[in-house]
Amino acid sequence: MKQALLLLILALFFFSCQQSDPADAIPNEYKIIPRPIDLTPKMGKFIFTENTKILLASPDEELQLAAEYLKALFVEINTIEEGTAGKDAIVFELDASIENEEGYVLNIDPYEVSIKAKTAAGAFYAVQTFRQLVQDQEESDLGLMGVPCVEIKDAPRYQYRGIHLDVGRHFFPIDFIKKFIDLLAVHKFNRFHWHLTEDQGWRLEIKKYPKLQEVAACRDETLIGHYNDQPHQFDGKKYCGFYTQDEAREIVKYAADRFITVIPEIEMPGHGQAAIAAYPELGCTGKQIGTATKWGVFEDVYCPNEATFEFLENVLLEVMDIFPSKYIHIGGDECPKAQWEKSSFCQDLIRKEGLEDEHGLQSYFIGRMEKFINSHGRSIIGWDEILEGGLAPNATVMSWRGTEGGISAAKQGHDVIMTPTTYCYLDYYQSDSPKEPLAIGGYLPLEKVYNYEPTPAELTSEEAKHILGAQGNIWTEYMKTPEQVEYMAFPRACAIAEITWSPKEGKDYDDFVDRLSTHVKRLKNMGVNVANKIYDIKTSVLSGDGKGVRVGLLPKMAGIDIRYTFNGTVPSSESHSYSDAVYIEESGVLRATSFDGEQAVGNSSQLVFNLHKAAGKQISLTNEPAEKYNGNGPGSLINGVAGSNGRYGGAEWLGFEGKDFGAVIDLGEVMPISKVSTRFFNGKGQWIYPPKTISIGTSTDGETFSEMEALEVADSDKKIIEVEVGLSETKTRFIKIYVKRFGLIPNGAQGSGHEAWLFVDEVVVE
Ligand code: ACM
Repeated sequence: MKQALLLLILALFFFSCQQSDPADAIPNEYKIIPRPIDLTPKMGKFIFTENTKILLASPDEELQLAAEYLKALFVEINTIEEGTAGKDAIVFELDASIENEEGYVLNIDPYEVSIKAKTAAGAFYAVQTFRQLVQDQEESDLGLMGVPCVEIKDAPRYQYRGIHLDVGRHFFPIDFIKKFIDLLAVHKFNRFHWHLTEDQGWRLEIKKYPKLQEVAACRDETLIGHYNDQPHQFDGKKYCGFYTQDEAREIVKYAADRFITVIPEIEMPGHGQAAIAAYPELGCTGKQIGTATKWGVFEDVYCPNEATFEFLENVLLEVMDIFPSKYIHIGGDECPKAQWEKSSFCQDLIRKEGLEDEHGLQSYFIGRMEKFINSHGRSIIGWDEILEGGLAPNATVMSWRGTEGGISAAKQGHDVIMTPTTYCYLDYYQSDSPKEPLAIGGYLPLEKVYNYEPTPAELTSEEAKHILGAQGNIWTEYMKTPEQVEYMAFPRACAIAEITWSPKEGKDYDDFVDRLSTHVKRLKNMGVNVANKIYDIKTSVLSGDGKGVRVGLLPKMAGIDIRYTFNGTVPSSESHSYSDAVYIEESGVLRATSFDGEQAVGNSSQLVFNLHKAAGKQISLTNEPAEKYNGNGPGSLINGVAGSNGRYGGAEWLGFEGKDFGAVIDLGEVMPISKVSTRFFNGKGQWIYPPKTISIGTSTDGETFSEMEALEVADSDKKIIEVEVGLSETKTRFIKIYVKRFGLIPNGAQGSGHEAWLFVDEVVVE
């Protein structure tokens, strides 16, 4: 036994012989994002010295690229030479025995770092892992840059790991695009989906069509504030920008040097208003229109005539010349059919081609473009609307309106990239703090992104092979600057990186957040405007017990205390420490803040409770709300907390899609009531409409209700429509509410043709 211990001590001494500081005896920490498959900790550190060099065991141009990338990161690395082993060396070697094309083995020992990979891409990812470990050391005061010894065997879960950026709504300078690509590389993404054309601006130089630069790259002015703010106001300032072909090529190379493929998107047949403004003959009306100045979906779409196909084919020839990507994204989303319905040309074409309707015409359009792109050896990706009217034979589908499109495409044997709004739209609000900068809407906190599972459970293992991966989307209506893009992208893109790279097994949000707290420091040191939300308080008002309600507070993190007050004061490090749900049985304000010792960290939260007769009582619903907008269950409707009129509305609201809202509240005993009031969210730009009517019924036994006539709900410009129903001297135990939804969104409005959403909270009984 003693001998074994002695051997262990000797072994530790041997492996840690480059320790320069007693602090090195502390076990190493490895906070890598995305989480590697397999990590074996070791004692000791590899120390950079003036002799540190890179050795290339396999002479290979691409491997050299990965090595040069590493050398450029650290001035301490002097040379890149050929060689297979050596002291103070970082050895790069291609290893055919590694299975995954992008897999790697990184072995850090005190005197040598070994990077083995099947391809240079894998070596590049090893470099990214190594870099994170080095970055953490830069923060220590060891004086010497030491990298913790470790063995890591790693490979990605999905072959497609992407982030999208819309440069149509706002244009971003080329230097930022490079910085953005650098950040994608840090997270082992391998696709940059560059959304280059929009109604509000065409951003890629096309030499054959100069008016795309002169007209389509500009708009006269831009909407101020949110689309939902009425009346619309504009800034009166001309806004222009496009990338020259040389710049686009520079980006393609810059990304390729970082093992990232740039996938260009040229939108069709919708979202083409800027191009039609430049060349009105591309539209069905022939009218001179302008580049769009506000956000939304527009009726001016490409007409499926020969002039349009010739234009788009010529555009795509130049696009394919710039972008070597196998995939060319041709959009396909949100194409209103109103002009096609009215156009005799389109109606004739539908008859001539034996198509069913305008959806068939869209399918014909996409099918023709696919044929052209396939004939040039490339493949198309389209948003999931390309499923409507029949899928083009070789198309890959980007499933954004949910997962159904992806499931259906995979079942039809098509490849799929998952990017559902609910989990992957990084333009949604990431916290419910009133300080959040203006965003499009929605609510997508980090944890929700992290908990997304890209492969739908509905697929068989054979079908699941068609799920190539997932992508985070950054639509920039409300992001005017690079700083804002960074704020919205990070750290949520870190979560996308992890769900696309790391194995499903071992997924653990708390562990992710622990690593992220280190990673956020790295990103800040790299000059990234990170939205650090990990210490922000998240509240959930849980169901009531007939008298009061309980409130859960997060985050639960090692070393972090949540302190709260209910007496009007700002929480301090002396306030109540949160351990279990807080019980609220009177009106007042609950304030909570995270503390690291004495230090307040993250955003505080503040919840206003107005307890009324129904607060904390029982409620049952006629129709289930949508899973993604179900508050904390039906009890949210009567928990004393009103859905906020803040930027996105918050977790209190219950959202119904294509369903009426009906509920029965049980007050527990017969009591007098004089009014019932409730509130509806009015966000037409987000497809959320106030309802048509509301009716109330009362009952003492829960069986026979005396019901009043339905009242019309008046629409207005207000963001929250409040409705109050007076009931004179009514004694009741049960209250029935029925709210009839708006129905289909009218033509010309955002989301036209879809069922409007109905958002409700709170039902107040007095
Ligand atoms: C999309 O968000 N319209 C693809």
